[in-house]
Amino acid sequence: MISPQIIEEIKYRNDIESVVSSYVSLKRAGSNFSGSCPFHSEKTPSFVVFPATQSFYCFGCGAGGDAISFVMRAENLDYVSAIKTLAQRSGITLPDDIDNKQPQGVSRQRVLDMNIEAVKFFQECLWDERLGAEARQYLLEKRGLDRSVIKHFRIGYAPNSFGMLHDHLKKLGYTDEEMYVAFLCGKGQKGTAYDYFRNRVMFPIIDTSGNVVAFGGRVMDDSKPKYLNTSDTPAFKKSRNLFALNFAKNHCESMMILCEGYMDVIALHAAGFENAVATLGTAITSDQARIFSKYTKKVVISYDSDEAGQRAADKAFRFLQEVGIEVKILKMVGAKDPDEFIKKFGAIRFKEIIEKSKSRFDFEVEKIISKYNIEDLDDKIKASSEICQLIATFASEVEREVYFIKASKLLGIPTDSIKRDVSAIINRRAREEKRTQINEIYRATSGIGDRVNPESAAHIRASKIEEAILGLMQLHEEHFVKCATTLTPDDFITSFGKRVFQKMQELHNSSVKFDIAYFLEDFSQDEVSRITKMMTDRQMLNSNGADVLFECIESLKAEKNRNSSEDSVDSLMDLLNKKKK
Ligand code: CTP
Ligand code: MN
Repeated sequence: MISPQIIEEIKYRNDIESVVSSYVSLKRAGSNFSGSCPFHSEKTPSFVVFPATQSFYCFGCGAGGDAISFVMRAENLDYVSAIKTLAQRSGITLPDDIDNKQPQGVSRQRVLDMNIEAVKFFQECLWDERLGAEARQYLLEKRGLDRSVIKHFRIGYAPNSFGMLHDHLKKLGYTDEEMYVAFLCGKGQKGTAYDYFRNRVMFPIIDTSGNVVAFGGRVMDDSKPKYLNTSDTPAFKKSRNLFALNFAKNHCESMMILCEGYMDVIALHAAGFENAVATLGTAITSDQARIFSKYTKKVVISYDSDEAGQRAADKAFRFLQEVGIEVKILKMVGAKDPDEFIKKFGAIRFKEIIEKSKSRFDFEVEKIISKYNIEDLDDKIKASSEICQLIATFASEVEREVYFIKASKLLGIPTDSIKRDVSAIINRRAREEKRTQINEIYRATSGIGDRVNPESAAHIRASKIEEAILGLMQLHEEHFVKCATTLTPDDFITSFGKRVFQKMQELHNSSVKFDIAYFLEDFSQDEVSRITKMMTDRQMLNSNGADVLFECIESLKAEKNRNSSEDSVDSLMDLLNKKKK
């Protein structure tokens, strides 16, 4: 465990408001601050920072915690790395052995160090006269990449062997366990480690600080799967990284190009479009959309021209627009993807189609119009309805006004009629959204589907009381001491409640004041969020005095008795049955 002195120092010097402010623009709301949640996409701010308790909580997505857990989430760091980041931010020097006290498993830094070794190894294999011959031929001849481009992207080759990388890393002092965690090796049936990437050209994924965080490996023929990718590791989250952002970040102020594939990005960079990036083999996530918004004002989506690519483009549109980016879509004819397009028609033509890229409205309207014959009455009605549906998806009223006029001209229908239809669609959608929200709330409060505390469904009342007690303990030191000294874990009914209380008691027994930071080692982010919620829920109420705590404790005891008397009924029934037999 990291010493309480360090935690206290870190938290003292890193005010939650100032830490959060570097990610979220906060507005004062009474004694608290509010803003748009950085952990999910939202239109109305439901993210609140509470200076009094040095905590945050999002009433939209339920993320919550303190400054340390905020940095863990925002930067995708483990506990120790987040502490290091905050230490650096506030000029604190940490003792050297902080890493040795790494609590759980393999650290982010270990994985990053291993990845660097792996990149070097893959590169050596690629340029090895004999080992890399086929891969070199594939990259240089078949894919037409220059040596300089291959080196720039640090592309390598994973040889066709089950153990070369493993043996290499072993010699450097890495354990099998660490190689599994880094996703460089898999565990075979006999429990032996084998190289995960074999006979593939290897594309390292490098983050904006220059760390090698993951790999994509491509086969050199038509075998399947075409790509293997690193799964999430302590150093990598697919949904929070973009391929080639490490290069693109310096060329992207006015515009970025979003592609589907690694090879598209590489071809584009080689042709001078150094603002191209790709998602990593998955559809774009809201996290990635927010990354874009950090670096640029405008994105041109250059997905493959096939059906799947176009569907994915539609989704990307929405995500990017939600974070306030101007989005255009590229229309590519005569090639399936940007890589092929550049090879066939050259960079100048690509620049032309980039400049001609269309807004989502124009792009979609063109698709709709091409499906129907506007001269035909039935068709015209269908097209109008689809265009109204489309306009209704735009959140900005100004934008909608512009499209009313465009659509009216296009269809020869008065603007007012279009407006009325669109309003009806928007209202209907709002009603539907409200209904699902109510269902959500109902589900959440009844405890069904509660992953953090699954037992809450069976013990609705008890779990509410537990939460109140644990919330009060966080809020006031005297409540903390009182409960830690008079209650036992067995007074709690759900095992989550027990676990949280146990940790609290542990803190008290080591003479440490409550701080959620101490939970970050043993509890997951979701659990930390829930524990924070217990406190924020109490904070919103007026009375949190000793009388309230007393009442809660009494109620918990009553619940416990009720539960155990149910138990004894069960055991009586058991006995009875046995007797009958
Ligand atoms: N992808 C993946 N796993 C697969 C196939 C694709 O992760 N089995 C991801 C890769 O990131 C790939 C992207 O989806 O770059 C786009 O796929 P595709 O268009 O098939 O690949 P390209 O990068 O265009 O590769 P190539 O031109 O070499 O076929
Ligand atoms: Mn391709």
